[in-house]
Amino acid sequence: MKQAVAEAALTYVEAGTIIGVGTGSTANFFIDALARIKNRIDGTVASSLATEKRLKSHGIPVLELNEVDGLSVYVDGADESNHYLQLIKGGGGALTREKIVAAASRKFVCIADESKLVDMLGAFPLPIEVIPMARSFVAREMVKLGGKPVYREGFTTDNGNVIIDVHNLEIMEPAKLEAELNNIPGVVTNGLFALRPADVLLLGTPNGVRTVT
Ligand code: A5P
Repeated sequence: MKQAVAEAALTYVEAGTIIGVGTGSTANFFIDALARIKNRIDGTVASSLATEKRLKSHGIPVLELNEVDGLSVYVDGADESNHYLQLIKGGGGALTREKIVAAASRKFVCIADESKLVDMLGAFPLPIEVIPMARSFVAREMVKLGGKPVYREGFTTDNGNVIIDVHNLEIMEPAKLEAELNNIPGVVTNGLFALRPADVLLLGTPNGVRTVT
């Protein structure tokens, strides 16, 4: 199903443009599919070092975001999506760069299998990227919000920070919580993609790819 949605996402790739490429196992299928049409695009911007490496291994050009004016489309997976295409991302720890690349893109195409579609976000623990010295402070703030913070041991982000995964959150108002969490000193980004949700969700099902907009 991941492969099917990755293939379906190719139809959103506009010739002669630069595209953003996400991170994770579903995004990896997209990268492998993109290799077949790499001569049609001007280049890519990667949302993680792992994605950059995979793109380069296929001979797909990778540019710095600072070198480009903007991106036509961003294709990436998600850990959860609600019916408004608001997402939880960051299971792989690449949330900050993913959010930057998504923000710089005109269209965000999210690719996932149907198990990721939920009525309410929060069953998947919400990842928060934190400046290392603020780890305990931010964890205490999460407890005040009713969450159960778990430090992702032995993991450092591409930006040199740590991740706290917050369990037990029932996220009724994703956009409000996204803004609130980003206001806590020491938080770099949280994994809610609600202020800038996906524009299209391609869901892999046993009966084929379902498009949700
Ligand atoms: C990476 O940090 C994440 O946001 C991924 O996009 C997300 O975890 C989805 O990954 P899979 O495609 O591997 O499920």
